[in-house]
Amino acid sequence: MTDRAEHDTVAFEVIDRIAWVRFNRPEKRNCMSPRLNRRMGAVLDELEHRDDVGVLVLTGEGSAWSAGMDLKEYFRETEAQGLAGTRQAQREAYGWWRRLRWFQKPTIAMVNGWCFGGGYGPLFACDLAFADENAQFGLSEINWGILPGGGATKVAASLTGFRNTMYHALTGENIDGRTAAAWGFVNAAMPADALRARVEAVAAVLLAKNPVALKATKDAVRRVSEMTYDNAEDYLIRAQEAANSYDNEGRKEGIRQFIDDKSYKPGLATYDLARPAT
Ligand code: ACO
Repeated sequence: MTDRAEHDTVAFEVIDRIAWVRFNRPEKRNCMSPRLNRRMGAVLDELEHRDDVGVLVLTGEGSAWSAGMDLKEYFRETEAQGLAGTRQAQREAYGWWRRLRWFQKPTIAMVNGWCFGGGYGPLFACDLAFADENAQFGLSEINWGILPGGGATKVAASLTGFRNTMYHALTGENIDGRTAAAWGFVNAAMPADALRARVEAVAAVLLAKNPVALKATKDAVRRVSEMTYDNAEDYLIRAQEAANSYDNEGRKEGIRQFIDDKSYKPGLATYDLARPAT
């Protein structure tokens, strides 16, 4: 199949409050075409504020997570439309990665196979990432004659050190999931048959947490990495006060269950969200 309809380029289902979103062009190793990028934007719109979604997992159908940008449809065909075509394609791709970086719910990349170039955008956009230990990660841009753009160089430089980034980008050599974990591209790598269970277990941990605190925390981690200490200190005070305006009772209930009820210890577990605040 070479001409998959836009609607079919992304698949998703919601099971037990986890939205499983899949790049769905396995016959093209899930490379990102303008149609896929448009569809992904629409899927994120649909899922972001649904009450039955607490965590989003992004994975790939078939042997790839994503083989990066579609060299034919994203590069060659949009370039043929001139600058306006190129810029529109960039907006649609970068747009959904940005949406995902600041998504309302925690997000997990479940990297099941190939992850190249432009794929680093959504990889970084996900808050957490777990990989098949045999997945292959590559900045292959140098192999076909461009620099790793679209944020890919920034992603590598943000997640790992200078020498690793430089070697990875200049040589175009791939690394496997285990090395990706050692470099900090993903949280952990494991055999393929253990991957989904691990992601489900992490999602279950997140689903038990206060959702307002989760959103405030994930944004804070991204923001403070580019701030001075003093700016971060100030931002974090304001961010907590803003979070309180959405959920002023959650943290009070968390304190109450520990101090008054003695029903849990925050150093060892999470407070019970299901118990009504008193
Ligand atoms: N762009 C366009 N088409 C692609 C891409 C891509 N990024 N990746 C795979 N495809 C297509 C192939 O052309 C092929 O199409 P066809 O069936 O019509 O011939 C089909 O997907 C299957 O690909 P194969 O190469 O046959 O699959 P294989 O499993 O042998 O290899 C691999 C997988 C290694 C991922 C290979 O497809 C590949 O090198 N892809 C390109 C990876 C890449 O460099 N991406 C760009 C990164 S740079 C950036 O994103 C800016």
